Amino acid sequence: MQQLFGNLTGLKPSQKTLLLRIYRRRVPPHEIVSDELAAFLCTCSLEIGRQVGVLIERGGNISHVIVGDPTRLFLPDLGRARAGQGRLRGLRLVHTHLRGEALTRDDLVDLAKLRLDLVGALTLHRDGRPDRLHCAQLVPPNAQDTIWQELPPIACARLGSDAPRFDELIRALEDELARATPARATSEGDRAVVVQVISRSASARAQGGDAASLWDPGARTSELRALCATAGLEVVEVITQRRHELDPKFLLGRGKLDEVVLRALQYDATLLVFDPELTPAQARAISDATELKVIDRTMLILDIFAQHAQSRDGKLQVELAQLRYTLPRLIEKNTMMSRLTGGIGGRGPGETKLEINRRRARERITLLTRAIDDLSRQRAERRKQRQRRSLPVVAIVGYTNAGKSTLLNTLSQSNVLVADKLFATLDPTSRRMRFPDERELVLTDTVGFIRDLPEDLKAAFSATLEELSEADLLLHVLDASDGAVASHRQSVDRLLIEMDLSHLPRLLIYNKVDRLTPEQWQELLLSVDQHAVAISASQPETVFPLLSALDAALGTLPARTGWSGWKDASPAVS
Ligand code: GTP
Repeated sequence: MQQLFGNLTGLKPSQKTLLLRIYRRRVPPHEIVSDELAAFLCTCSLEIGRQVGVLIERGGNISHVIVGDPTRLFLPDLGRARAGQGRLRGLRLVHTHLRGEALTRDDLVDLAKLRLDLVGALTLHRDGRPDRLHCAQLVPPNAQDTIWQELPPIACARLGSDAPRFDELIRALEDELARATPARATSEGDRAVVVQVISRSASARAQGGDAASLWDPGARTSELRALCATAGLEVVEVITQRRHELDPKFLLGRGKLDEVVLRALQYDATLLVFDPELTPAQARAISDATELKVIDRTMLILDIFAQHAQSRDGKLQVELAQLRYTLPRLIEKNTMMSRLTGGIGGRGPGETKLEINRRRARERITLLTRAIDDLSRQRAERRKQRQRRSLPVVAIVGYTNAGKSTLLNTLSQSNVLVADKLFATLDPTSRRMRFPDERELVLTDTVGFIRDLPEDLKAAFSATLEELSEADLLLHVLDASDGAVASHRQSVDRLLIEMDLSHLPRLLIYNKVDRLTPEQWQELLLSVDQHAVAISASQPETVFPLLSALDAALGTLPARTGWSGWKDASPAVS
């Protein structure tokens, strides 16, 4: 049934009847808009004193008649489904502008957001006859970064003779779009626009956050890029906005959000990655306003954890963290779809799908927590056995990607997964390491630390990090070649304090020194503590100083029953 869309409040029945008559018009496929339809739209618009618009299909039928207010139109929801990569929607919008203005930014944003074939604005003469038609179309991606192109205005009196043929215009544009799209399809991963909002107030509030580094957009951006790459996303653009205060609804300003949407459309990105964290309401509002999938840094980290968890324990912990994070974010996607369900699986009539999902999530959380507790007890058992074996336990900690697994491999000559990805190591991996004189110790690799680790994750991963409480010595590995090395060190120190582990003896290791420039070397020599060791974990011949330091450090520790051999033994490495 044909219906009117938009702002119908206060319209008289006779006006509605007049507007519904617009549906009877048909536009010849070669015309943008026929003389007759243009004149009728202007008549209706003048009659009700509001903008009136139509969405016209390629075949010439009118699919929607839309009513606005005197200055703008309110487009109906055409569904989230985009027209597809590089494709147009097959609908054009032609509407009246009562105040003689050419196309507005809202018109152009609608053109891009909805991937319309064309947007046209009709201005009126004083007597209500159509005056000019202003049109714009999208353009294929180009070096100038332009998204649309406005055509020269056409005098409505000469629509038949001066207007370009619509069918030819659209064919040419679709050909260009088709040619441009494959060239940009460089990756199979989702394309993402990263949106970074930096605000001093948020930095100050960030719990345990590293306020200084929050103000270093370079370090933040490269970390986000690395996180995206690890999650398999292709970052097509990073948009940063500095604000004094975060916008409570969208985090960033409305105008900037439009820019984000336009960029996403331009590069066919389907995902927005926000930093900092979004509240459930913000995630929903931004997703509704942009019609794009919206995630934040926390969800990204969770996603990476989910991709990388290997052991049963790791998988359970990730699932728990994901559920805890998504529970308040479970929303009714579409109110039309969320009818009462009841029946099997439901608590009975009156419980919506959403409530069922929430209840199931809560039940699963209880189950997971129990399973994780059991596994944690089992691990405690295993640790006791290790103590009985009287081996010192040395845990490798450090910021993600610092080279912990590489070091474990080099020291134990094992082959733990080493990857140039963040959080390649999720589950604690323990290996025996043997000194030339046969003395042994247990080396444990742990999950990488990261700044602003979300609370949910900290709690969920505490079991993984429990391993650390049993360690006799921590090897804190730093990537000396990373510009943010100082802030990484701070973040790890802070997390160790939070986890009550700061009392453990620690050896500081500057890794990846092979990557340093002579200037960076100089800087490192001046800034590091005298007990720190500089190595390249990937080059075994460079780790001897670390072995000596390890030997010495263990030798000075109060020995646990059974491993006094460490005190008496002659130095294993010289
Ligand atoms: P997470 O699992 O994320 O915590 O990472 P990790 O700290 O265990 O780092 P990993 O050992 O996986 O190394 C990360 C990247 O750094 C890999 O590409 C390694 O090859 C590289 N890498 C490690 N040590 C060195 C080094 O001494 N020199 C150089 N040039 N690269 C290194």
